[in-house]
Amino acid sequence: ELNILREVRTLADVIRTLPVRDPFSHKGSHGKGLLIAGAVEMPGAAFFSAKAALRSGIGLLKVSVPDQIAAIVAGRLPETMFMHRENINFDGLTGVAIGPGLGREPDEGRLVSLVLESCGEIPCVIDADGLFHLKNHLDLLRQRSIPAVLSPHPGEMADLLGTSVKDIESHRFSISKAFAEKYNVYLVLKGKYTLVTAPDGRQVVNPTGNAAMAKGGSGDVLTGILLAFLLQHKQIMDAVCNAVYLHGAAADHLVRNGHSLLDVLATDVIEAIPPVLHQLY
Ligand code: APR
Ligand code: MG
Repeated sequence: ELNILREVRTLADVIRTLPVRDPFSHKGSHGKGLLIAGAVEMPGAAFFSAKAALRSGIGLLKVSVPDQIAAIVAGRLPETMFMHRENINFDGLTGVAIGPGLGREPDEGRLVSLVLESCGEIPCVIDADGLFHLKNHLDLLRQRSIPAVLSPHPGEMADLLGTSVKDIESHRFSISKAFAEKYNVYLVLKGKYTLVTAPDGRQVVNPTGNAAMAKGGSGDVLTGILLAFLLQHKQIMDAVCNAVYLHGAAADHLVRNGHSLLDVLATDVIEAIPPVLHQLY
């Protein structure tokens, strides 16, 4: 196996591959995404992912949360449209993300298989509780024409494979490579030095991010950035690597500018996306 299949993402890589915004573009040029997230006990997850997608340049975002929390989530996301859980449809969408705070009941599991079966031709991000349900539908990943993006933390990865977190952490390169190749996915194994693996086995290590992100909600922010970037990049691998880089760089920006490693909130990371993008563009 050639070692050149492994590299570290650099700032230069990001700048070279970030999408260029055409001055004559319109909202339809920058993607129409659907986020399926949130539950009564976890309304914040949907908010974090949605707000992060909006801050990362998505053209149009539809959000599907349970009806009981739709009003409270909608009140904080005036830029988004909403879709009832009972009437999920994928018409006109160019990407889907499912999972943050979704819940672990069978109804939500059916949503995961519906997304995998119905959206094989558009990019799709599966995170958090979406990964919990994915365990029962791994066979659906291989038949997609556009590979899905999975973003597990080591606990979720261990659960997907039926192994221990210790095992995942001691063999993160080999386990990621075997999984991404076997199931035809882009795998984002999160943590310090998040590892991105393409379906062809290429691996990229992310250098940004810090321990301020070790707090509930951080991963939900990444899901939103991933969705937005998948809809705006030409290459999936660039979209994924740039999303992971930006997510970490936003947290790094905060601890260099007035924050400590203790006080950073998921909302702060979202609001640090603009200054980081401003520096990159
Ligand atoms: N250094 C760098 N980055 C870090 C560090 C660290 N020490 N700790 C965490 N991060 C980053 C990770 O790389 C990842 O991008 O913060 C993010 C954490 O994501 P998750 O582990 O998914 O955390 P979060 O989504 O907030 O978890 C909330 O969702 O995934 C489920 O089971 C999870 O119930 C939990 C809920
Ligand atoms: Mg998470």
